[in-house]
Amino acid sequence: MRKGDTVSEKPLENLVNEGQTFPPPAEFAAQANGTADLYDKADADPEGFWAEQARTYLTWSKPFTQSLDWSNPPFAKWFADGELNACVNAVDRHVEEGRGDKVAIHFVGEPEGDTRDITYADLHAEVQRAANALADLGIGKGDTVAIYLPMIPEAAVAMLACARLGAPHSVVFGGFSAEALHSRINDAECKVVITADGGYRRGAPSALKPAVDAALDHGDTSVEHVLVVRRTGQDTAWNDRDLWWHEALEKAAPTHEAQAFEAEHPLFILYTSGTTGKPKGIFHTTGGYLTQCAYTNAVVHDVHRDTDVYWCTADIGWVTGHSYIVYGPMTNGVTQVMYEGTPDTPHQGRWWEIVQDHKVTILYTAPTAVRTFMKWGTDIPAKFDMSSLRLLGSVGEPINPEAWLWYHRNIGGDRAPIVDTWWQTETGAIMISPLPGVTTLEPGSAQKPIPGISAEILDDEGQPFTEAEKVGYLVLTKPWPAMLRGIWGDPERYKQTYWSRFGEKYYFAGDGAKYDDKGNIWLLGRVDDVMNVSGHRLSTAEIESALVSHPKVAEAAVVGATDDTTGQAICAFVILRQEFVEEADEPGEGKDLVQELRNHVGNEIGPIAKPRSIMIVSELPKTRSGKIMRRLLRDVAEGREVGDVTTLADSSVMDLIKTGMSSE
Ligand code: WTA
Repeated sequence: MRKGDTVSEKPLENLVNEGQTFPPPAEFAAQANGTADLYDKADADPEGFWAEQARTYLTWSKPFTQSLDWSNPPFAKWFADGELNACVNAVDRHVEEGRGDKVAIHFVGEPEGDTRDITYADLHAEVQRAANALADLGIGKGDTVAIYLPMIPEAAVAMLACARLGAPHSVVFGGFSAEALHSRINDAECKVVITADGGYRRGAPSALKPAVDAALDHGDTSVEHVLVVRRTGQDTAWNDRDLWWHEALEKAAPTHEAQAFEAEHPLFILYTSGTTGKPKGIFHTTGGYLTQCAYTNAVVHDVHRDTDVYWCTADIGWVTGHSYIVYGPMTNGVTQVMYEGTPDTPHQGRWWEIVQDHKVTILYTAPTAVRTFMKWGTDIPAKFDMSSLRLLGSVGEPINPEAWLWYHRNIGGDRAPIVDTWWQTETGAIMISPLPGVTTLEPGSAQKPIPGISAEILDDEGQPFTEAEKVGYLVLTKPWPAMLRGIWGDPERYKQTYWSRFGEKYYFAGDGAKYDDKGNIWLLGRVDDVMNVSGHRLSTAEIESALVSHPKVAEAAVVGATDDTTGQAICAFVILRQEFVEEADEPGEGKDLVQELRNHVGNEIGPIAKPRSIMIVSELPKTRSGKIMRRLLRDVAEGREVGDVTTLADSSVMDLIKTGMSSE
């Protein structure tokens, strides 16, 4: 990143028109699921409103009589005396209601021509066999299962089969390393791992199974069996505990009677980065989570089951894949596209070709992807017929107005509304977003809490304010159905992390925010030590502890520096152990060492966590009490004049670091 180099400096053909807003097209508004009256209805009786959504969107085996139970804050219960099965809601009932022939997933593998259409009836057959196969391995209600798979339909089948059995799944993103997988498997004490030999990535098979083997070779594992999907056919080492997925499913009984579980039964655990080195196992339960996923997918993404082809480009390993590939759209019986690979394989128009081929109507993606496409140029999407698109969505980080406007024109044909959706792994589902048939869109702002959700912005003293342009902290002021129920095995950390910064009344999201003069909310990024790199959440502490675990490193500090494409980029500052300093000073050695450290982080966490830059320094800027002053390091990483150094214990440190930078 060079100083002052921002996306807005690139010519945008008069695209950027300050303050331009976009009212909903009349035709869109006329058919929209989300209508203006929802706001008043939800305001008048939030709990009654959510109960109505729970009844509208879900099929309950045993109806609930109570909406919210908030008698033991911050531990919420929603619809607690009701019972349901998540898999039955996402699959069986569509078949029972005569929609078995409807395509659930248009699967597009990365190798060209590798496509598969899976109907709801196909899915029904698969989830029953998969549930039986898992049950044959001893999995039942309350057992945890790790899922480490590429973006293939089996990932959704595996999740739904676990849900069918009441076995919470813990999906670990395929880009995480063996070490990261090991700690997640152990934390949740998983009994089975579902993986694949590999997946296709950038035109080649990429192995996954070796990471599972390495994760389980620590000798302390709770895992009894590993189910392996054959995807690439590459050579795979085999252990006694391993079984092929297709063989296990073939052997399993074809029908499975699903049991209903309490609404508050845990549905899944998903690990996410926090401000310490240890990832948090965020866990969600069934009834409330499904309600909000299905409702938001209907009113925000505006899915119409009979006419839409929906495509969420997230990976199943992140919360967006959980809520808006599996649980939301499938509960709504939607037809969707699932794509395995990268956007530029085999060419930079791959996504637009998929939109054209499948006549995709709704596309939900991340700002980092939009900015990448901006860099590749408008002529690439222009080659494809994308007139089917009628709604676009954005998630994962703030979308800057320039990227918003580019997306609106070049992908949405100046026609499709864009919903900028703010939410988190913890919130489970969308919280702040326009309703596309109601809201006049303001590029760059996520605008208003959706009907049923309440948010405020607080100042440093914890006082709510409404003044425009004043920067504060975003908080949520009422429990919501899809809220996390806790951190797996650590209720104290749950209270401490989310419900203590501003007292028990407020859920603290960790994001900075402001209002504009129209009362729209603008999200301003994290205010804690969590970075957002290409929409992936990473903690500075986690990467620091990975660096310090290298034998040559004495101390490390990591900051997120602004980056044009990825939002933030990881920049590390490292102090070496004395005995390795001389070695690093030898001509040419520094580069090798930096590479060695980057690879080490890749092994400890995963390639997504490799720092963009590592600087070897002799000191780090610290306050007198020994706290690293990240603000100053961020200044250096972003190439700015270094800010106020008066609280530094030794103010010459910054000169040393800056001199180091300029001699690089
Ligand atoms: C950020 C992803 C601005 C935010 C669903 C949040 C956003 C974190 C937006 C959660 C948005 C997500 N505008 N910022 N529309 N969406 N964020 O848990 O900082 O991976 O706290 O969930 O992403 O990331 P997570």
